Amino acid sequence: MNIASYSNSFGAENHSFLGARAALIHEVQRGLLKRPRSLVPWMLYDAEGSRLFERITALPEYYPTRTEREIFAESANEIVAAVCSRNPAPVRLLELGAGTAAKTGILLDALSRLRKRVVYIPVDVSPDALDAACDSIACLLPHVQLQPLVANYVTHPPRLGSFNGTTFAIYIGSSIGNFSPEEARTILRNLRSQLRAGDALLLGTDLVKDEATLLRAYDDRQGVTAAFNLNLLHRLNRELFANFDTTCFRHLARWNCAESRIEMHLESTRDQHVFIAGAQLGIHFEASETIHTENSYKFTHARIYTLLEDSGFCFQEVWTDRREWYAVTLARAT
Ligand code: AVI
Repeated sequence: MNIASYSNSFGAENHSFLGARAALIHEVQRGLLKRPRSLVPWMLYDAEGSRLFERITALPEYYPTRTEREIFAESANEIVAAVCSRNPAPVRLLELGAGTAAKTGILLDALSRLRKRVVYIPVDVSPDALDAACDSIACLLPHVQLQPLVANYVTHPPRLGSFNGTTFAIYIGSSIGNFSPEEARTILRNLRSQLRAGDALLLGTDLVKDEATLLRAYDDRQGVTAAFNLNLLHRLNRELFANFDTTCFRHLARWNCAESRIEMHLESTRDQHVFIAGAQLGIHFEASETIHTENSYKFTHARIYTLLEDSGFCFQEVWTDRREWYAVTLARAT
């Protein structure tokens, strides 16, 4: 089923993303000419990158997805009861960066047991991911009303229509961790601007833990994360006719304790020259020079509370796993 076949009250917010190639060229020129060199993490997610990310989520070393799912499986009823506790009104669940909504079904299922009318608004930049999300929810919970929204919630905060009930926003998968603290605040403040006081936000965040566990999660034995990172160079070869020899770059994962984040880099293993025809760019890489491709911030409870408060939310309740590796925090728009 295609997303066009679902009702969508936000047609004006849908984007065709004709500018995707221009954005890629802009980011390559911006990030590869400066030192240290960097590229933005959204570039990791072309079709192949998204497929590799799905494989990462099933790796034994990559605990965040599994741990968050376990928390939902154990506490979904409690979570939705806490969301609905103050109000008998209908609920619409808004999901930022819905992806394939693999875990959201657990929350929607629990919500459906408390409310007759449930509306689900998955927001994602990828129409294909939204198709998959809507198909899986339609199959699992046919009574849930679907209102998918193709939007880049980072650059174009979704504008919500009015709703006579509670908006329950969720931002899970520790996606917030891929943004700098300033960007994270902006995303949550933009979201807050679309909510009414008393509306709910459920935020999934990966917690700080021992360095070895963190590094293993971002440098797995099968090399799937390495392939995910290196795919960025393959993407530039495919889409911008670059001539990266990907065997001359290697994946690096580092723990930056001062910034509380895992960093992914691509390291040039020798002196080399690369030409990116589509961006009219020639670059010389020295041996050991790196391209910084992603940050994944790890949180403490104190940092989560501060982020929420700075963004117009107040803490209500938190659920964690037995090892305290992952937190699912419920907050209210103040
Ligand atoms: C999507 N995001 C939350 C993942 C993370 O853990 O930061 C992306 C990822 N990068 C490497 N592995 C997973």
